[in-house]
Amino acid sequence: MGWLPFLGETLAFLKPHKSNSLGSFLQKRCFRYGKVFKSHLFGSPAIVSCDLELNMFILQNEDKLFQTSYPKAIHGILGKYSLLLVSGDLHKKLRNVIVGFISSSKSKSNFLQCVEKLLISMFESWNDREQVSFFKEAKTARERLASTVKDLMKERAALKGEAGLTDDGHEEELEEDEEEFLDAILAKENLNEEEKMSIVLDILLGGYETTATLMALIVYFIGHAPHVFQRLKEEHQSIRESKKGKEPLNWEDYKKMEFTYHVTCEAMRCGNVVKFVHRKALQDVKFKEIFIPSGWKVLPIFTGVHFDQSLHEKPLEFNPWRWTDKEMRKKVTPFGGGPRLCPGAELAKVVIGFFLHHLVLKYRWKIKTDDLPLAYPYVEFRRGLILEIEPAEDTIE
Ligand code: HEM
Repeated sequence: MGWLPFLGETLAFLKPHKSNSLGSFLQKRCFRYGKVFKSHLFGSPAIVSCDLELNMFILQNEDKLFQTSYPKAIHGILGKYSLLLVSGDLHKKLRNVIVGFISSSKSKSNFLQCVEKLLISMFESWNDREQVSFFKEAKTARERLASTVKDLMKERAALKGEAGLTDDGHEEELEEDEEEFLDAILAKENLNEEEKMSIVLDILLGGYETTATLMALIVYFIGHAPHVFQRLKEEHQSIRESKKGKEPLNWEDYKKMEFTYHVTCEAMRCGNVVKFVHRKALQDVKFKEIFIPSGWKVLPIFTGVHFDQSLHEKPLEFNPWRWTDKEMRKKVTPFGGGPRLCPGAELAKVVIGFFLHHLVLKYRWKIKTDDLPLAYPYVEFRRGLILEIEPAEDTIE
């Protein structure tokens, strides 16, 4: 491991680069010092790791040897009860609610139909258009969603204060889907109002931004890989042919989307929705020859592992077929790991499966400009990912 000058590293570390590349900061240092090196980042001495084994060790030892340690600026954005920021018993309590909620909803037919309805309405809004700014539209939808949720929470709190009665003495009715979703969380008696609010936002916003980014990455990668588009289309055509007319998709259909799943995994490996996570060492830690002093920041870099050529053949190539090797799953960490492993991973994949079903059956597209995904470190498309779209007339729907 090499020692580096302590000042000015954070800016270099955060310098935007193609999210489907390592970026010059990591490239230069990994070349000079190896996969694990010392630096000074986010105001603290830090160990930066692009090593799969060390990263897994860090993630799995959460709350024992290491702990979540996001910068103060992020606390203001996420709120102090966000799952990403809390630790110990509070983390366990809030995480149980989220995991329980997601695992009970994700395969329910009314939930899946709601997801599909939303996707269909998005694609219908593309009718008669030749161009869409995909990433920009996805982001605007996020802002709309955030303010709707906040309004709904306020409305619910006010209603509760008025014993749930309207002017004419009847229970106020919210949209059925919203009511069911909110009730499941709001009925939890062991949570205070702030914790409930935080959970709803964690699920909707944490899940929304990342899933929208992944959709954009997939659209981008497939836009440059016509053979992948073709294979995907065959898979979804065969699923559609097995169904009656416009019959909604269900969990069994999702389970048949094998190639779609491989495309999703490959887009996560290459696109890096989450480049790295923030941790700190709770005590002095020794891992193989590496010494991590107590109190130091520790940054497991997922991008580093995803492009590690000792783990992946031609790592920079977008190749969904590499996922036929079952071992691949053990060599990437797009959803983190250990006690903080993303609770929404499966949910995101089913949403992506449904999204791709309608997308490839309804449209073909070209990426209009020379736009690319940039790690800022969160993924951005500078020009909003402008697509030239045209209806796919040769498919049954
Ligand atoms: C492409 C989609 C997604 C990606 C790449 C992703 C990635 C991640 C990663 C890397 C973490 C670990 C953070 C850390 O260890 O510090 C995480 C945590 C989390 N994710 Fe996701 N996520 C995605 C979708 C979702 C969805 C759909 C939801 C909710 C419905 C969700 C909710 C959460 C929550 C609540 C946490 C905090 C878990 C904890 O600290 O215990 N994510 N996600």
